[in-house]
This record gives sequence, C-alpha cells and structure tokens, in this order.
Amino acid sequence: MIDKKPLIEINKLVRKFGSFTALNGVSLNVYPGEVHALLGDNGAGKSTLIKVLSGIHSATDGIIKVDGEEVHFNSPREASDAGIGTVYQDLALNALTSVTRNFFLGREIKKGPGAFGIMQMNEMNEITIREMKKIGISIANPEQPVGTMSGGQRQTLAIARAIYFGAKILILDEPTSSLGQKQQMEVLKTVKRVKNLGNIAIILITHNEIHARLVADRFTFLSLGEVIGSGLSSELGGDDVKRLMAGGADIGDLAKELENVT
Ligand SMILES: Nc1ncnc2c1ncn2[C@@H]1O[C@H](COP(=O)(O)OP(=O)(O)OP(=O)(O)O)[C@@H](O)[C@H]1O
Ligand SMILES: [Mg+2]
Repeated sequence: MIDKKPLIEINKLVRKFGSFTALNGVSLNVYPGEVHALLGDNGAGKSTLIKVLSGIHSATDGIIKVDGEEVHFNSPREASDAGIGTVYQDLALNALTSVTRNFFLGREIKKGPGAFGIMQMNEMNEITIREMKKIGISIANPEQPVGTMSGGQRQTLAIARAIYFGAKILILDEPTSSLGQKQQMEVLKTVKRVKNLGNIAIILITHNEIHARLVADRFTFLSLGEVIGSGLSSELGGDDVKRLMAGGADIGDLAKELENVT
C-alpha cells in the first residue's frame, strides 16, 4: 500500500473568501483503490475543498497534482477532463426522464450528422445496464423514469455515470445523508465495489463516522479550514475518531460543557 502512488495530491491548499480563510493549508493524498474519508463539522471547509477540486472555485494558494502532474482548473469541465468526477448530494438527475437518458445526459450516442443524429437507444440502454451492474445494481428496465428508483439506486446511477465518463478520482459529497438505513447500506456497498475496481481513488465526505469506519482506508479530519488529524483507518481508535469529529476537543471537556447546561 505504501509504495502506491497517490492519484491526487493536495498540498497546503488555501482558499480565501475576501478576508475569510475557508481552507488554511489543507494537505491530503488519495490513492487508487482506496476510500479517503473527509470528515468535519459544519463549516469545516469540506464543500469548499471539493469545489476547488471540482473546478468551481479556484485555489488561493497551494498545489494540486493529479497523477503526478500539477493542475489548475478554471472550470468544472477542466476538472472533469482531468478525471475528477463529483457526485453532489442533490445529484442533478431529472426524475421524469429515463435511467438511460439520465446516464448519458448531454453525451448521448448518436449516429448521423451533428445535432440531428439519431440517438442509439438500444446501445445506450445496454451500456447503462452493464455499467450499473458493475457496481451492484440490476435494473430491469433502463427506460423507467429515474423517479421510480430508490435513493440508493440513484446514487449508484450518478456514480456509474461518473466512472463511465472517465472519473479516476470520485468525490462523493455526503452520499448517505438523506437516505434511510437500508438505502445507506446500498450506497456503502456501491462505494465498496468501486473501491474494489482498484483503479479509482474515492473521496468520501461524510458526517457519519460509522459509515466512514465501514468503508474508508484513510481519514482526514477538518475543522475550521485546517486538518486537525489524519491517518489510516486501522491506526485510529474509536476515541480518536470521536474527539476529532468533535473538532479536536477532548470528550471529557465536552461532557463537562454539557454538565453545565441546566
Ligand atoms: N462562497 C463563499 N463565500 C464566503 N464564505 C464562504 C463561501 N463558501 C463557504 N464559505 C465559508 O467557508 C466556511 C466553510 O464552508 P463549507 O461549506 O466548505 O463547510 P462544510 O464543511 O462543507 O460544512 P457543512 O458540513 O455545513 O456542509 C464556512 O464558514 C462558510 O461560511
Ligand atoms: Mg458542505
């Protein structure tokens, strides 16, 4: 594991909004075939970090390398072309159109000249079924509207789409947070299957330490724009995780703080 090269290296990343520093020298590496959990409380800077990695915000300072090459993204398109696929919480799927249409969304396979080409629905349906199956979801009818799928299946659709269109680095923004327990497990299984593909580096943003424990190989904890702890899952004890999730405060101190509430 140690001699593996990181697929993405983030070194001393800084992002300011005016005089406010949302990311203050954040560093982390993500390796192929690994899940790197990014944890932290509200306002820690998790979304800001993924927006910089996705080309939505520019970095104020610091270095990002993909596959050893320094990158500077000026748009989401550039990040996506470099192999960064981000699955946002709201997914940007259209509930009324079919699974296949959502899978291709603007990248349809057409035969014939330009915009007037004929869409190859059979081929697109087959690809959609195949790619979803690779990461664990069997869909009977790819022409069913996305609105008929479960929340977990929709996450899988968005993940399968990102991978098929070239994501080497998959960023998942709180993929389990709006789901019921059974669906959460479905998504975690999907994450595990993507990890098992072996060539994709996954950044999993979550508030849920149990989910992180279940699938992550490495952890980075952010608090107020800074890394306050990081390490291999196997090295972090439960108490470390709890303390770091609480923004680095000692659990004893937090308990005292609560005792004082009347
Ligand atoms: N566009 C912006 N302009 C000014 N400040 C911003 C902007 N985006 C984020 N911030 C600030 O940066 C800090 C980090 O926000 P961010 O959304 O990255 O946190 P987060 O870790 O994703 O939190 P949450 O768990 O609530 O989603 C917050 O204090 C937020 O107010
Ligand atoms: Mg956020």
